Amino acid sequence: MTCFSSTDESAHYGFSVCMLLDNYREQLAWEDNGVVELGTGDATAIADVVTSLPGLRVHSYDISAPSLEMARVNIAERGVADRYTVELGDFFDQADAAGGPQISTVISNPPYIPAPDRDILMPELWGGVRGNDLVLQLLKAGYENVITAVASYSDPEATVATAADLGYRVVNFLAMGLDFGRYSSEPKVRDHIRRLCADGHGWAGEDGYMVAVVLFTQNPAIPGDRADQLLRSLQIDV
Ligand SMILES: C[S@@+](CC[C@H](N)C(=O)[O-])C[C@H]1O[C@@H](n2cnc3c(N)ncnc32)[C@H](O)[C@@H]1O
Repeated sequence: MTCFSSTDESAHYGFSVCMLLDNYREQLAWEDNGVVELGTGDATAIADVVTSLPGLRVHSYDISAPSLEMARVNIAERGVADRYTVELGDFFDQADAAGGPQISTVISNPPYIPAPDRDILMPELWGGVRGNDLVLQLLKAGYENVITAVASYSDPEATVATAADLGYRVVNFLAMGLDFGRYSSEPKVRDHIRRLCADGHGWAGEDGYMVAVVLFTQNPAIPGDRADQLLRSLQIDV
């Protein structure tokens, strides 16, 4: 097993989470309740967010032991171990027991690598055949607010449609173009992405894709729905 490493993607995730949490501070009430995270990785992205937002507490899960080893070092170096706690295990098995229903917000840069099977460079990053299995599972997990990365090549139209069926609206998002990294450049993955996009299940360019970090909410007190804008921002052609 290896540790997830992708500087641009993680930096975009961290910056976007920070901005969305800060902009919707009162409505998300994270100063009262904290947030939970699916997928710690090496923790650098969210450790910096915890440093920037003094009232924030995050409890995070990862299934990768080497990632958590690095995460603990990075969190300790930044001096935020009291507010950024990490645990080895499957988010979906353990989050309820740890947080219960009073935690209303989950954050994640989830695994979204699409591939025919789990036999890829880092199997923990497999997002299912269309790449959006974990995002869909997260949307179905019962959190009122879901801040998650949505990749242009991982069937975003199906993700947004499922979110709407579950009563979520797209409040806001931050989108960025990314070059294919080491995980999406793996030939088996890249070929699969091409096929998915050709079949109308996403968008990707020759060397890159778009990713948006999106705030989905079911909370009627947070107005607006930018679902159409989100999908337009993810469209990138070869
Ligand atoms: C794309 S990485 C993101 C890591 C980090 N948040 C970042 O942005 O740098 C996704 C992480 O989710 C972890 N993961 C995969 N499935 C998981 C699950 N069911 N529960 C918890 N973590 C999981 C992987 O091991 C991986 O470290």
